[in-house]
Amino acid sequence: MGFKVSAPGKIILSGEHAVVYGYPAIAAAVNRRLTVDSDGRIASDIPIGCGMGSSATLAVAQAALKIKETDLEKVNKLAYSFEKKHHGNPSGVDNTVSTYGGFVWYRKESESFKTFKKILPKVRLSKLYLVNTGKPQESTKEMVKYVGGLRKARRTFVDGIFKEIEAVTRGFLDFLLNESKQDFGGLIRENEKLLEKLGVVSESTKSLIRRIEKIRGFAKISGAGGRKEESGMVLIYHKDIDLKLMSVKLGEEGVRIE
Ligand code: PMV
Repeated sequence: MGFKVSAPGKIILSGEHAVVYGYPAIAAAVNRRLTVDSDGRIASDIPIGCGMGSSATLAVAQAALKIKETDLEKVNKLAYSFEKKHHGNPSGVDNTVSTYGGFVWYRKESESFKTFKKILPKVRLSKLYLVNTGKPQESTKEMVKYVGGLRKARRTFVDGIFKEIEAVTRGFLDFLLNESKQDFGGLIRENEKLLEKLGVVSESTKSLIRRIEKIRGFAKISGAGGRKEESGMVLIYHKDIDLKLMSVKLGEEGVRIE
């Protein structure tokens, strides 16, 4: 009998790059999925290589297809091993959120000890949009390598940015869990500023984001980013304007047998 598995793409709300070095990240599964059937044809509405975890999503679906069950721990473990072949030094956040779905707080303490917990948000997130600036010239692997090189050369500077990113990630957690007075838009803007400081946002994407901020919106890249031309997906939040963009729902279901 034919067997079909689907898995969702993701966005990283906060913590990309820092998560590779043991800092926490918050990611959410989105309402775009990739489906693989037992014959191997693949259907997907997740843009490839644009920061929505397309490769991890494929890894998760293929792992579930191979194992032929939804023991999520097993699926996630196998998907991570596929990701490692493809990407070299992944944190594991992408395959984890694509496997379990919803919102995930994730931390890689070491190669053999990764922790995560599902977040059940008390707030309803709306007015969120994605703009695809296009596939970056650099792959995720190259961007992770770039940040690794920078950290080697300027350890104090980069670790300082990572610590500030962690504070923002904790701000998002507080916002999601406690309906606190945290300024959601402000956290997005702060996160973007830190990613720009890290050098993972191209000039053209920065200028797009400045234009969004000028009309009282908030925006950040999501995922590895890109330095040369495009930087992949940009997550936008705007309270007042009903932008005619691709609206995105966060916290979707994880891997499933169709
Ligand atoms: O660009 P994406 O969707 O592959 O996301 C990468 C996220 C990083 O933090 C940059 C890398 C990782 O493995 O966590």
